[in-house]
Amino acid sequence: MVNRLPIEARGVSYAYAPGHWAVRNVDLDVPAGARIALLGANGAGKSTLLLLLSGAEHVCHGEILLHGSSAERSREGLRRWRREVGLLLQDPEDQLLAPTVEQDVAFGPLRGGVEEPRARQLVERALADMAIPHLATRPVHELSLGEKKRVALAGLLVQAPAVLLLDEPAAGLDPGGVRALREMLDTLARAGTAIIMATHDVDFAYEWASEVCVLFQGGILARGEPAEILADREMLTHASLEPPLLLEAALAVGGPSPFPRSRPEFREWARPTRRIAL
Ligand SMILES: Nc1ncnc2c1ncn2[C@@H]1O[C@H](COP(=O)(O)OP(=O)(O)O)[C@@H](O)[C@H]1O
Ligand SMILES: [Mg+2]
Repeated sequence: MVNRLPIEARGVSYAYAPGHWAVRNVDLDVPAGARIALLGANGAGKSTLLLLLSGAEHVCHGEILLHGSSAERSREGLRRWRREVGLLLQDPEDQLLAPTVEQDVAFGPLRGGVEEPRARQLVERALADMAIPHLATRPVHELSLGEKKRVALAGLLVQAPAVLLLDEPAAGLDPGGVRALREMLDTLARAGTAIIMATHDVDFAYEWASEVCVLFQGGILARGEPAEILADREMLTHASLEPPLLLEAALAVGGPSPFPRSRPEFREWARPTRRIAL
């Protein structure tokens, strides 16, 4: 039977300096279409785990599997890894390298040997998917942070990765930018892309994730259904996090489950019982 999990971590550990473990013995299996929120305080190991999953850093112990096979660090293996797994860095400045938007987005396909006319088509589609065709010829350095994040994401989407890793993608975006990001991620997850997002934003995770995974000092403290894991105040306090505001409000008021996970759901949930005058 073919193992269809696009990516798995098995007993993965990593230390930047001897004895200082940034990631400890992490097991993570990620099905296609998963929306996994990696939650944790600053320094919990989120970014390091994403770097390991992306192949940018080499595990000290354990292994990463891609579609059931051990990921290889040969030149060809790394090329495949890069194609299959895209990582959006927290700061798009670290990711965008070419002078113009279209050159930057075309970089991956051209490096992968795609012919120029085909690469141009792919770039056009990726820019359309990110709702930024109007930025195609703009110099990257002139763009706003939100625009740069969209360009960086277009540069990942153009490779049609099976797995998308996102490091604090909502940081620095305005509410409209966050909404657009969420819609785009929903579309990708529905199409089967597995998404793993590092964040300390429990409210975003509660609304967005199909599964949450709480990291503490490099290890996994808890993992499962968002509504269940994020209601565990004691565990969250231990991890220097707090329950999501919506969940806390619903629990305080009391009422039927499932509890609302978004503002529109909250309005629907609260109205019929007149629990709260809206
Ligand atoms: N480049 C680095 N060199 C040395 N230590 C690092 C480096 N990057 C991160 N660390 C350490 O690794 C641990 C995990 O950090 P990180 O993965 O960045 O956590 P998070 O993304 O959850 O804030 C922290 O103790 C941090 O200080
Ligand atoms: Mg980080």
